[in-house]
Amino acid sequence: MNQTITPWEVKGEIDYNKLIKEFGVSKIDKKLLERLEKIAKKKNMKLHHFLTREIFIAHRDLDFFLNEYEKGNKVFLYTGRGPSGEIHLGHAIPLMFTKYLQDLFDADLYFQFTDDEKFLFKKDLEMDKVSEYTKQNMLDVIAFGFDPKKTHFIIDTVHANLLYPEAIKVAKKITFSTVKAVFGFTNETNIGSIFFTSMQAVPAFLPCKLKNRKMACLIPHAIDQDPHFRVTRDILPKLGYYKPSSIQCRFLPGLQGIKNGKMSSSEGFSINMSDDPKTVKNKINKYAFSGGKATLEEHRKHGGNPDIDVSYQWLVFFEPDDKKLKKVYDDYRSGKLLSGELKAILIEKINQFLKEHQEKRKRAEKQLDSFVLRV
Ligand code: TRP
Repeated sequence: MNQTITPWEVKGEIDYNKLIKEFGVSKIDKKLLERLEKIAKKKNMKLHHFLTREIFIAHRDLDFFLNEYEKGNKVFLYTGRGPSGEIHLGHAIPLMFTKYLQDLFDADLYFQFTDDEKFLFKKDLEMDKVSEYTKQNMLDVIAFGFDPKKTHFIIDTVHANLLYPEAIKVAKKITFSTVKAVFGFTNETNIGSIFFTSMQAVPAFLPCKLKNRKMACLIPHAIDQDPHFRVTRDILPKLGYYKPSSIQCRFLPGLQGIKNGKMSSSEGFSINMSDDPKTVKNKINKYAFSGGKATLEEHRKHGGNPDIDVSYQWLVFFEPDDKKLKKVYDDYRSGKLLSGELKAILIEKINQFLKEHQEKRKRAEKQLDSFVLRV
């Protein structure tokens, strides 16, 4: 099996069990789910379907974070976004889940926009363009419903005065040979990129620095970001902070099939948060890889394969109702439900989701100011 997973490239069919082993992260087990469910119940919330369906599949030291939370100690959340383009449905997964975690733990969230990263790593991307994406992406993030009083945007080039003095403390403890080994850098890699992971480390302890107290941090993120936090975790105790905990999700498969890695905007087959209903319909009908049979007759007789069908797989992410989802699975398997009908169910679901998002996004502009971190 051919898989490439770094923070900047995800290729091939991904074997998550293999990846979990390679990265050295732990699967989220039943005990942890029970612990989370208990916390959720106290808040009149449920266990998120991203947890029960193994979409958020792995973690590092989640137990430690929960211990701290249960002791009544102050904890915080940290996540981020690299503003290299429009936000698409794949990016929505960790954002939706981060919002859930903010509600669950009633915690402050530090949200980093790594405009420096995208400028440094994307060959033909100019800084003006990155800044424009940053602004646009911030509005999308707000539309996911984060609490303005508890959510703090950090923009790397804007908050440089705050980040840089901390980043150099991290950088001083990382050698070139470490980042070569962890990220696959070579002598041809530009020196900004080589330094960059120190910037992504900072929000994992900046709140502790600002408030002058030790606090546990939980980082929800897609699993490709783990290499950054592996490095961060090695260094933070040396600077007098806790190792950050993390909780990690697998990728929403691209429209063209689960063999092709994650959804990628650069290949043009993504669905953007700004897409209108017609565009969504056309893209899904045209591109969504189908697990159906070649002819109607065969499909009715033998049924489809939901396990490779992208429309079904997307419903696993976007249809929270277990009963509805199971019915689609069973009906598709039996041949009762046709591929076109399955696509129609997905189109409806996605369009509803996007409609709500786009409405909330319109109101986000007014709130933007209150989200930007001020110290
Ligand atoms: N590097 C991430 C990206 O390219 C952005 C990011 C910064 C991030 N800090 C983070 C993602 C913390 C998850 C968690 O999208």
